[in-house]
Amino acid sequence: MARSLKSSQLLLFVFLLHLLSVTWSWKKEEFRNCNQTPFCKQSRSRKPGSCSFIASEPVIENGELVAKLIAKPLQNQEEEPEKLEPLILRISVYHGGILRFKIDESPDSPVTKKRFEVPDVLMKDLDEKKLWLQRISSPENGKGSVLYLSPGYEAVLQFDPFEIYIRKGNDPNAIISFNSNGLFNFEQLQNKREGDDWEERFRSHTDSRPFGPQSISFDISFHKANNVYGIPEHATSLALAPTKGPGIESEPYRLFNLDVFEYISESPFGLYGSIPVMISHNSERTTGFFWLNAAEMQIDVLGHGWNAIDGIAPQHEAIDTHWMAEAGVLDAFFFLGPTPKDVIGQYTKVTGTSAMPQYFATAYHQCRWNYRDEEDVAEVDAKFDEHDIPYDVLWLDIEHTDGKRYFTWDKLLFPNPTEMQNKLMAKGRHMVTIVDPHIKRDDGFALHKEAAKLGYYVKDYSGKDYDGWCWPGSSSYLDMLNPEIRSWWAEKFSLENYVGSTRSLYIWNDMNEPSVFNGPEVTMPRDAIHFGGAEHREVHNAYGYYFHMATAEGLLKRGGGNDRPFVLSRAFFPGSQRVGAIWTGDNSADWDHLRVTIPMVLTLGLTGISFSGADVGGFFGNPEPELLVRWYQLGAYYPFFRGHAHHDTRRREPWLFGEKNTALIREAIHIRYALLPYYYTLFREASVSGVPVMRPLWIEFPADEATFNNDEAFMVGNSLLVQGIYTEGARSTIVYLPRGQTWYDMRSGDAYSGGKNYTLEVSMESIPSFQKGGTVIPRKDRFRRSSTQTMDDPFSLVIALNSSMEAEGELYMDDGKSYDYEQGAYIHRHFVFSKGILTSSSMRSTKTSKKTLSSNSVIERVIVLGLSSSAKSALIEPAKHTTEVEPGPLTLRKGSSAVGVTIRKPNVRIDEDWAIKLV
Ligand code: NOJ
Repeated sequence: MARSLKSSQLLLFVFLLHLLSVTWSWKKEEFRNCNQTPFCKQSRSRKPGSCSFIASEPVIENGELVAKLIAKPLQNQEEEPEKLEPLILRISVYHGGILRFKIDESPDSPVTKKRFEVPDVLMKDLDEKKLWLQRISSPENGKGSVLYLSPGYEAVLQFDPFEIYIRKGNDPNAIISFNSNGLFNFEQLQNKREGDDWEERFRSHTDSRPFGPQSISFDISFHKANNVYGIPEHATSLALAPTKGPGIESEPYRLFNLDVFEYISESPFGLYGSIPVMISHNSERTTGFFWLNAAEMQIDVLGHGWNAIDGIAPQHEAIDTHWMAEAGVLDAFFFLGPTPKDVIGQYTKVTGTSAMPQYFATAYHQCRWNYRDEEDVAEVDAKFDEHDIPYDVLWLDIEHTDGKRYFTWDKLLFPNPTEMQNKLMAKGRHMVTIVDPHIKRDDGFALHKEAAKLGYYVKDYSGKDYDGWCWPGSSSYLDMLNPEIRSWWAEKFSLENYVGSTRSLYIWNDMNEPSVFNGPEVTMPRDAIHFGGAEHREVHNAYGYYFHMATAEGLLKRGGGNDRPFVLSRAFFPGSQRVGAIWTGDNSADWDHLRVTIPMVLTLGLTGISFSGADVGGFFGNPEPELLVRWYQLGAYYPFFRGHAHHDTRRREPWLFGEKNTALIREAIHIRYALLPYYYTLFREASVSGVPVMRPLWIEFPADEATFNNDEAFMVGNSLLVQGIYTEGARSTIVYLPRGQTWYDMRSGDAYSGGKNYTLEVSMESIPSFQKGGTVIPRKDRFRRSSTQTMDDPFSLVIALNSSMEAEGELYMDDGKSYDYEQGAYIHRHFVFSKGILTSSSMRSTKTSKKTLSSNSVIERVIVLGLSSSAKSALIEPAKHTTEVEPGPLTLRKGSSAVGVTIRKPNVRIDEDWAIKLV
């Protein structure tokens, strides 16, 4: 085409193309790359073996190993030794295969500023899990210290070269190690001398850097690993691709919470949240690493040969990684595994498991920027009923407020907010409003006046209230690091303070990276000052977490401590899982963005955050109906399931694309509602063990190598496998079904044996999903307006048999709302099918029985997939009545070759023990 254009036309074309890319794509130039970030550039250029510290003088103090890190003696006596103050290394061991090591300046350092250590992340009871070390041994000819870690495992501190590693018994090979490549570097704080220029400039911004360089960097090696995963949030593949090494040109993975407008998929660029946790896996072992540090971090995954000398790569069977942070201390953990679930359990022992959500929050949420007014809300609400589509929550974005003053309502558009919420509540539906962290600097706004008077805002480098630009214009930001300010904020959610709110209203925290439109890289300057004199550069990645925490505390207070908060946040940090849900921000309505939601949500789950999801339909742009349908079909399986759209997009409620598409979307939402009992049981599992609701296949099949790079399919719990469809017009797709199992197509009941790729025909009806043989899934198949209205409805059990004709599964239920379950007000059943008999028994712990829960719900149907039986009836014990058995599962498609039976109306109570025997 270009050849036929005149040069002026060509110029115009190029200019328009440029304009288009400026207005509609990621503004790359607004953000620093590694080369523009001095600490990153300098750390990244370090050579293997350049570490100038060795360890010395190990002693046991308070049950920990304490050693000094001192300057390495120089080989060449004539050279001036580097001037280094000793650093202090502390190594401690926790029950269950957890090693912690901390490195900080010595208390004798001449610089008085204390480096920032992030409070409120580690579990309060962590110390109780500490193994009190009594002694160290040094069998390595005095070259190191050896510590007991867990049965059969030891941690070794090697003095020179300085290294920390874990090994099994006397096997000298490390499993996971620190500084094996000698990249450890610690820029010690210095007193500023005449002539030192510490300022850093980026675009029009100057960072005064009053405390100078203070970065930390080091290498971690995951020995014999096939892949490494984790370190959200990036829009990349699940298995992390190398970023440095022969033939690889990439930025490191950045962890710096940023509001990235129109992010692109397949980029290591840092998005809204940061979790410095990496997990390595091979078919025999999984290990993990966590660095508790809230400063900007950059991480290289080093490709094979990254350390080659003269083109020859050293013999090496590890995945090496290079970690670099601008500030903070080194406070790090190794998790020994050996299984993926063990590693997640170990990490969540340290930072906590996911909060148990309310039942309604696990159902479908309808959002848009913005539902205009009360009439719009009423209409959308009514249309869901008209089209027989259940939903649980209607969301209001920033335009519902009076000029972006949060906790207020636009009086013209929302004159009767309480009534509006009560009308929704009458159908069991809830509302969510947005509350962002920027506070409008308006003297007529009481919240601002009070915060300013109390001195509750983050300060700029000169000590004035920091003033940045966000939705309301000139704004200030509460210093949520301060617990006093968090309590003050929490009070703002009381029904008296938040006028127009009701008990059925919950909250959305957005822009909490924090986003500052005129700040450097769209955020707060690094030299802004927080509580206790901490610099923003040290606190940055945790800011959103504190805001989220304070908001959840508010809802908890409002409910007298017995109403589980629901707060969705965009920014996150380790520990956010204890607070609430996360979503993946401003994605786009395109197929690549649909695809990348899966590795993004899976990665969050791997790093502790189970309750997450992506905007269904894509935030920016207008999805074609096919994409929208596919997104609902996939999104129905996200732990957090919400449709959302930008205000410039066309309306896209489920009934706007013709009857056929409405029916397809309805069906997708119905599937989620049917599976809610199963999801809720999984949320409970996540809240106890940390294991996420939505899981990469390899968590469930750790020895099956064919699953390691698969991020198009995923497991929901241990029983369901789902394969997304990510291309337009797809007529078939390849699905890998893990080996050693029988798999049943959820729609047809057809059985497949695992260990193979299947090319399956697909239609618009559904995306492929399979139940694993050997499992039982509880469902509720009656559809009502909201999940709340289904509380007493009967259940169906879907039993999928394995090759031994057996299966087992669980159901957890409670009141879906309060914390009474902590005192025993819950039902937890164990279903086992064996030798033609299905039994239900209680899994309740005997420790918590101050309260109980009973339910009138019964089981109205049991479908047994994979059973060929001529039984006509089933005998129910202890009631001793019989009920009908029909051949064929009810869900059978015409022409299906599926085998199975359906036990009709056994009507056994969900909260009792019973047995159903086919006769
Ligand atoms: C940015 C959020 O990511 C988006 O979901 C929201 O609609 C807008 N802010 C407006 O509040």
